[in-house]
Amino acid sequence: MDQIHVIYGSTTGMTEAVADKIAKALDAQAFNIGAGDAAAFDAELLVLGSSTWGVGDLQDDWAAKLDEVKRNFASKKVAVFGLGDSIGFADSYCVAAETIANAAKAAGATLVGEILKIDDTNEADQTDGKIAAWVETIKA
Ligand SMILES: Cc1cc2nc3c(=O)[nH]c(=O)nc-3n(C[C@H](O)[C@H](O)[C@H](O)COP(=O)(O)O)c2cc1C
Repeated sequence: MDQIHVIYGSTTGMTEAVADKIAKALDAQAFNIGAGDAAAFDAELLVLGSSTWGVGDLQDDWAAKLDEVKRNFASKKVAVFGLGDSIGFADSYCVAAETIANAAKAAGATLVGEILKIDDTNEADQTDGKIAAWVETIKA
């Protein structure tokens, strides 16, 4: 079994870009949840990422798959990141990441690290620094 897989859902590509950066920093493979690749869950640590849509909703591919895939979280280590818009959606900022973290915990996963929340819309200059710092906490 691989050590780490990054699994993301992304509608306009922003979460995908961050997932690719996190995967590179962790020397891990990245999987799009929308692709339906069962091998995505075959790792000791799953790094799960989703943008938030609607008002506090999961990204579409996660919304379609979360119920079906959450059994794969049992007895796994899980880390979670989210992308959102902290100005346009201050009251529902990155709620999808919290939804995924809660689903993983309920399914028996152990959460690793804090939820990483990224606003690439308004604070793109902070993205790389946040990723680098967060990845260090996940490795530890
Ligand atoms: C119609 C719409 C609804 C959104 N709703 C939220 C929201 O409730 N909370 C949030 O934090 N961001 C929200 N966003 C911002 C997106 O999550 C953000 O643009 C994100 O970077 C998109 O990532 P993706 O391209 O990977 O899907 C919304 C954006 C749009 C266009």
